[in-house]
Amino acid sequence: MQFNQESLRQEVNRFRSSFQDEALDTAEKSLTLEKRGPVAIIWFDQHQEKANKLSTPNMLRLFELFVEIEKDKKLGALVILSKKPSIFIAGADIAEIQKMAAGEATVEDLMKLQSVFTYLERLSIPSIAAINGACMGGGTELTLACDYRIATDAPETKMALPEVMLGVLPGWGGTQRMPRLIGLESALDLILTGRNVDGKKAKKMGLVDKVVPKELLETRALEWAAELAKSPRKAKKEGHASLLSRVPGGKWMIFDQARKGVMSKTKGHYPAPLKIIEVLKKTYGGDLDAGLKVEAQAFTDLVRSPECKSLIGVFYLQERVKKDKGSATGIAKEVHSAGVLGAGVMGGGIAQLFAAKNVRVRMKDINWDAIAKGFQAAQKIFYKQVQRKKMRKNEFDNAMARIEGSTSYAGFKGLDLVVEAVVENIDVKKAVFGELEKNTKPDAILATNTSSLSVGLIATGTTDPTRVVGMHFFNPVDKMPLVEVIRGKETSEDAVATVFQFSKKLGKTPIVVQDGPGFVVNRILAPYLNEAGFLLSEGVPPRKIDDVIAGFGMPMGPCTLLDEVGLDVGVKVAKILYTAFGDRMKAPNIMEKAGQGNRYGKKTGKGIYLYPGGEQKNDPELFARLGVKENASAVPDDKIVKRCIYAMINEAARCVEDKLVRDVADIDIGMIFGTGFPPFRGGLLRYADSLGAEAIVGDLEVLQRMYGERFAPAPYLQQLAVSGKKFYEK
Ligand SMILES: NC(=O)c1ccc[n+]([C@@H]2O[C@H](COP(=O)([O-])OP(=O)(O)OC[C@H]3O[C@@H](n4cnc5c(N)ncnc54)[C@H](O)[C@@H]3O)[C@@H](O)[C@H]2O)c1
Repeated sequence: MQFNQESLRQEVNRFRSSFQDEALDTAEKSLTLEKRGPVAIIWFDQHQEKANKLSTPNMLRLFELFVEIEKDKKLGALVILSKKPSIFIAGADIAEIQKMAAGEATVEDLMKLQSVFTYLERLSIPSIAAINGACMGGGTELTLACDYRIATDAPETKMALPEVMLGVLPGWGGTQRMPRLIGLESALDLILTGRNVDGKKAKKMGLVDKVVPKELLETRALEWAAELAKSPRKAKKEGHASLLSRVPGGKWMIFDQARKGVMSKTKGHYPAPLKIIEVLKKTYGGDLDAGLKVEAQAFTDLVRSPECKSLIGVFYLQERVKKDKGSATGIAKEVHSAGVLGAGVMGGGIAQLFAAKNVRVRMKDINWDAIAKGFQAAQKIFYKQVQRKKMRKNEFDNAMARIEGSTSYAGFKGLDLVVEAVVENIDVKKAVFGELEKNTKPDAILATNTSSLSVGLIATGTTDPTRVVGMHFFNPVDKMPLVEVIRGKETSEDAVATVFQFSKKLGKTPIVVQDGPGFVVNRILAPYLNEAGFLLSEGVPPRKIDDVIAGFGMPMGPCTLLDEVGLDVGVKVAKILYTAFGDRMKAPNIMEKAGQGNRYGKKTGKGIYLYPGGEQKNDPELFARLGVKENASAVPDDKIVKRCIYAMINEAARCVEDKLVRDVADIDIGMIFGTGFPPFRGGLLRYADSLGAEAIVGDLEVLQRMYGERFAPAPYLQQLAVSGKKFYEK
């Protein structure tokens, strides 16, 4: 199964005949060999691309170079370097993983590629990976097969094995070599979370041997290689085993802990982390070749799983956002300084985010008490980072110094962008936009964080509505990745492009949405939350509703979400949507009733649940208070899922029909990054596609007969059902 020189030749020929010559030619251009005295240097510089990727042609090319190096007896050491400014190797070629997911994966093929790294590991001369920039997945696996690793302390240097995020595991020896190098516990942590470590952290955990400034990387690596080349024999690698993994039964404790951690985080929805633990259980401490075989088999099983397909889909959704500019014609302006109007829950969070991303921000509210609260909110978030050692004290001070507070518009004339986050009241917002127009420069962008009011209507408070755009953050701002960029009727393309690209700079995931009640995410969420209310009024306990929906994969059930958002806010938004869309959006009376007596949810200590000391508890008097007879078996679990989730799919179909988004993918991005819709299901509409429109329409018709018109299938969904088409198929 392994490569040798003869099998390489055959493989290259097979490759040449089944693919284009071009791919191998590109690999030849991308990976070159330089000989400097006794030191061989493999330079990686992916031809005509920004990132180095380990595609199959590149792997074959690497093997070819290893063979050439091995043959040249004058060479005494090898250094692998990248010519890209901030990327060592970005990982495997995702397009190839996607092909494997579509059924092209064989254990044999994978083992051949594994053997490229085994060949590197067993070269007779020592090898050094010299790492600057992103070193991901297959890139890290390549470095693990080298004898030594030297990395830079530059902020762009990040090492990780993120395969788990795509629903697979490191398949080129990562599960085998990582634990040998850094010990079982640390390796499990890296492989199960996919998290990255910088050069210094990598050195601390033994993942790299040396850390140097970026400018010295090449020199130091070559000096080191020249030194190693003097020695006639390559030193034997030393492994690492933690104390716990060496005590009898210790490693089983580690596996047990890891499994418990995975189950509590993923509820078993993701097969990859469980498989990773299984592979390590079977192979840790054993023979490398046998371990590689187990790894290859496990990778092949995982890559064919539906979860992997979904996660690859989500990866491409994110790539799409990266390439998206938000507008085909708009020109984004740089935002150096910004203002935030209203220092409440959202304003404080937005100011913190701006300051965290190096943007100077002025926060204005109507009184100093409110401003103090905004400062406190920002301080609290930064301080948590200090406690977690993600921020130094001086960085904390600098970040806080980027936020200024004021009760007047002093200083607003110099700002590039202002985000309004005052109370959700159209008259107040219109008045505030009128003031903003007078107190900012004419080309400053004026954004609103409204969650339900029309951006176009708010803009009527100004004389130049082209400057007004929606920038809808989700709560809590520091944690929720989504920003809905709302294009009002008159909003200029430049304003859309500016807010879209600025959102990306802030590290957020933006989607462009047309102006309309609830925009996209809250509009789709509303019937889902309403349905939870209807279930409550039928006596279904909130805990049951929440457990069933969490079992489907949502990060929290709808009753918990209502308590988090606040029943007062939920009812208010529901009323706006009811006014806009009529009966299908009518919230059940029980929602208002549940919130009576200041029982708004978590913020008031009681809502659908109770929150003594902040911890969620069932309320034994809930149903008596609501005047409903509790009936845990009133609705079977699968019906709870269908009622809640299909309500969202149906509304999403209406959003597509109303052309609220430029592409259906935006709805999936919105629901994943705005509500936590389970990525392993690929997104709301990908999930709908996996069920098929015909089946959904059939079920909706049954629900319509049982529960009324709110379940009437959307015309667009019906069209898909009739034509046999999918959302993701035009
Ligand atoms: N809270 C959420 O979950 C959430 C999520 C997304 C969007 N939003 C939207 O964000 C906006 C703010 O919501 P919030 O929850 O932060 O409200 P909040 O009540 O916490 O804060 C509003 C702040 O605006 C201030 N304010 C009122 N009038 C003002 C004026 N004329 N000039 C300056 N400041 C003024 C108030 O003093 C208060 O500090 C609303 O439009 C809301 O719909 C809220």
